Amino acid sequence: MVQSCPDASPMKWHQAHTTWFFETFVLRPFLSDYKPFRDEFRWLFNSYYNSLGEEIPRKHLRAALSRPSLDEVLAFRAHVDRAMEKLLDGDLPEDAARRIVLGLNHEQQHQELMLTDIKHAFFSNPLRPAYDTTPFAAARGVSRSEFIWHRFGCGVTEIGYALDAGNALDFCFDNERPRHRVYLESFGLASHAVTCREYLEFISDDGYARPEFWLSEGWDAAGREAWRTPLYWERDAADSTGWRVFTLRGWQPLSSLLDTPVCHVSFFEADAFARWRGCRLPTEAEWESAASGSPIHGNLLDSGRLHPAIASGDGVDQLFGDCWEWTASPYTGYPGYKPLPGALGEYNGKFMSSQMILRGGSCVTPASHLRATYRNFFPPATRWQFTGIRVAA
Ligand SMILES: [Fe+2]
Repeated sequence: MVQSCPDASPMKWHQAHTTWFFETFVLRPFLSDYKPFRDEFRWLFNSYYNSLGEEIPRKHLRAALSRPSLDEVLAFRAHVDRAMEKLLDGDLPEDAARRIVLGLNHEQQHQELMLTDIKHAFFSNPLRPAYDTTPFAAARGVSRSEFIWHRFGCGVTEIGYALDAGNALDFCFDNERPRHRVYLESFGLASHAVTCREYLEFISDDGYARPEFWLSEGWDAAGREAWRTPLYWERDAADSTGWRVFTLRGWQPLSSLLDTPVCHVSFFEADAFARWRGCRLPTEAEWESAASGSPIHGNLLDSGRLHPAIASGDGVDQLFGDCWEWTASPYTGYPGYKPLPGALGEYNGKFMSSQMILRGGSCVTPASHLRATYRNFFPPATRWQFTGIRVAA
């Protein structure tokens, strides 16, 4: 039931809402004799689809859902699983197949959210429990004090996903389409994601107190929220750095994480850091052109580490995994963008205002969920996700 901030949701809600997605978008329209589990669930577990009618007003925290019980939510899931098996046994219309693939990708997004929400919930608990009590496996990599710049030439390139329309199982989100041309000036991309060591230099140089590095809205947010460090950092006199960091494996001394990517920073902090270093954040087109053709390989959920890890030192490293990288690009539709028809058009398109694009996935994103064309987006003050920094020039 725990919901420790408005961005997060209780685990029970995630379970019920991902189940609701299949009931609402697959079973009701495509399984002729389907009997909904319970009528109220139609609005109770609707997240944000206005065209489906009622949903719970935002003033009610999802943590208030003491009923239905977890047992009832699990029974809802079992009911939907049985119906899905029945549907999958028959002749599946192409539109149903596409919606099932979307439902699976939706569920992967919620699995990632569950880990970020558990982390925040445990950090909000005075006992500060660890999600995983086993220690970090030793990681090998290189300690860097300077960025190594990888240079990319200018010219016309293509970004976005070229969907195979004839294959119902080929998938991307609607916001990754259509593939289209962009012109890039030549640019440089740093070899690795910004580390805690590099970010600590920004803090030590009074980066949070120097308005010349900050966007106006970011300066206001940092003041209002009293940001002095990334989320999850806390003073610790016992560590040589003076700090410790809360992870899904409990507290870690910052001195043990200095060469790992800094995470849980907002877009504003990422942007201020880049200005302080005399560089900038990459655009999403620059990021994608650098990442396209690379295998989806990195410290993703599949590694089981659950925290960013030190860079290997090969090429432009850590593009996938470790932490989502803020870009300088606002979240808008690509030229010719069309949302999915019907209520599913609300999945992505209606959020195309006041949010920034992030790329590359994190240590809690499943590898099978990612693509070089994948566009994540959050409001610029967001910090509870595994969000980090790569600089460009
Ligand atoms: Fe959702």
